[in-house]
Amino acid sequence: MAERVGRDGFDCAPLRAALAPLGVLVGARRIRPGDEAAFADPDLGRPANLARRRASGAARIVARDHLGELGADAAAPLPRSPSGAPAWPAGIIGSLAHDDVFAVAAVARRGLLAGIGVDVEPAEPLPADLVDLVLNAAERRATMGDEVKQRLVFVAKEAVYKAIHPLDGTPLEYADIEIGLGEGRAKLCDGRCLQLVTLAGERLVAVALVWEGA
Ligand SMILES: CC(C)(COP(=O)(O)OP(=O)(O)OC[C@H]1O[C@@H](n2cnc3c(N)ncnc32)[C@H](O)[C@@H]1OP(=O)(O)O)[C@@H](O)C(=O)NCCC(=O)NCCS
Repeated sequence: MAERVGRDGFDCAPLRAALAPLGVLVGARRIRPGDEAAFADPDLGRPANLARRRASGAARIVARDHLGELGADAAAPLPRSPSGAPAWPAGIIGSLAHDDVFAVAAVARRGLLAGIGVDVEPAEPLPADLVDLVLNAAERRATMGDEVKQRLVFVAKEAVYKAIHPLDGTPLEYADIEIGLGEGRAKLCDGRCLQLVTLAGERLVAVALVWEGA
């Protein structure tokens, strides 16, 4: 079962509360030994990748838990598609992410929402050598030197990539996305707009939503 509130995962209750009215279910789980059994990873034969396989399994445990709540197949294998994105049951959209300690998943029924992306990172500063690569001038001004907020911008851009890439294969770069953390919006260089819901607590989490027709 995915942790609901903090118990052994981090507290993502505020994120869950913000997303539930939009029809999006999100959850987190501390990655544990044995979680690798939850995913028939194509890298199974490579023992060096145990941590990664464990994280992938943990994310799928969280996702399946929520698929059950949506009335979808709670045993769905969720294999990786050739692009790397997970393949969801018919009528479902979703996204997975993991850092070294936690796995997260967000799922919804396809309908008004066309795409979802999620990312998670520890609440630590964005390494200085990444700031100029990831943030544009407006984002640097808005984050006012707050290195953890800068990392949240990074997390948001990764979430946007995961929401958009499965839709049309757009190969987004950081410079193609402008994040407005205050407005809860991401703008793409092609004019498209995504809604952003973010959490800055023990972990940094961003969920990017593509509304149909937006
Ligand atoms: C997809 C990507 C953003 C994932 O980020 P990451 O930090 O490596 O790993 P995360 O733990 O956050 O996410 C991994 C999950 O992303 C998902 N994912 C991978 N490729 C994906 C894609 N093309 N579309 C959507 N989701 C994808 C998978 O579910 C994966 O989990 P799994 O391996 O257990 O199945 C990254 O690997 C990537 O492909 N980047 C290239 C593009 C880029 O960086 N552009 C600049 C950012 S805008």
